[in-house]
Amino acid sequence: MAETISPKTIEENTNEDMMVKMMEQNLEGVMFHLFETDLYDLLKLPGFKALHHHQSQEETETLELLKHKYIEKYKKFPILKTKSIDRWEENEDLYKDLSEEKIISLVKESMKQYADWESEVLEHLLQWKRNVEDRKIVHKMIEDVMQEIKHIETLMDILEEHDYNYQCICEISDYLSRRYK
Ligand SMILES: [Fe+2]
Repeated sequence: MAETISPKTIEENTNEDMMVKMMEQNLEGVMFHLFETDLYDLLKLPGFKALHHHQSQEETETLELLKHKYIEKYKKFPILKTKSIDRWEENEDLYKDLSEEKIISLVKESMKQYADWESEVLEHLLQWKRNVEDRKIVHKMIEDVMQEIKHIETLMDILEEHDYNYQCICEISDYLSRRYK
């Protein structure tokens, strides 16, 4: 005889799936910021490095909180899968050309990837929030990512106004160093 699934079980599964999805996305986010931290270290732009370091720490704290809530509720490890681990290997040869022109194109590409990534995160969180029991934490994550997007857009507007010239990139880096020291 087929087992009947009560609506409660479906709800529980959905919440668990959503929590795993959120944690996986969060882990991707932390990995993104860890790679960017190393990238800007290589490019000798300490302010951008500090920005990504700050974000990796903040988002690690959120991930810890999500994992704690999951472990408390389901009494087991969350099984998380990540795809972005090979970004270092993919960019292995980057150090071979660090001319000003190359740095400009790398910063431009990195800022675009950053904005795209956070927009995707926001879109997913807005989709998932209805199915997650703990809405307070999702709301906080939505607020954080909205603030992050606003900040990236401000930086991109200034960089675009100056056509991403190297001098402007260095000035933004100095400003970020003061902000995140
Ligand atoms: Fe982020």
